[in-house]
Amino acid sequence: MLGLFAFAYVTLHFLNYLVLDQTFDIAGIIEDIVERPFITIGFSALLMLIPLAITSTNGWRRKLGLRWRILHRLVYVIGIFACWHFYWQVKKDISEPMIYIGILTLLLGLRLWKRYGRIRVIAKSSGSSDDEMVRQTKGPDGNLLKS
Ligand code: HEM
Repeated sequence: MLGLFAFAYVTLHFLNYLVLDQTFDIAGIIEDIVERPFITIGFSALLMLIPLAITSTNGWRRKLGLRWRILHRLVYVIGIFACWHFYWQVKKDISEPMIYIGILTLLLGLRLWKRYGRIRVIAKSSGSSDDEMVRQTKGPDGNLLKS
């Protein structure tokens, strides 16, 4: 649900840019996308959000299986692009984007720690190598098993 809210926010944000900033000037928008890096990054994030929003239902999740999980990892790239877009857009006071960058760094750090730290802890306690533990903690479909 949170992902769909993000998609709705970005769509409205884009519509605001399309209608109020650019008054449907498609050539101007293309020029912006090509020449203004912060728009390039924001627009790329919007494009990446589209397949995630479409496949956000349980039906798509079942249908795509492991590919769904791989596809939805795009959310990490989108998060980085969103913060980058905000950081580049700000002219003087970077304190607000830095707060978001800090939060994102913390969340991504926690993710990495949860994924790799846990494997190492199990490996140490059972005396297995890291590679062996990665294999052991993955199910037959290649997904990491929940502990
Ligand atoms: C994940 C996608 C995006 C996120 C999270 C995002 C977020 C933000 C944020 C937080 C700001 C600063 C606050 C504001 O003025 O509203 C901003 C500014 C801006 N964004 Fe985005 N944005 C995204 C995508 C886009 C796209 C697709 C476009 C247009 C192609 C765009 C165009 C702009 C523009 C023109 C500004 C400057 C507004 C101003 O100067 O007042 N953004 N964006």
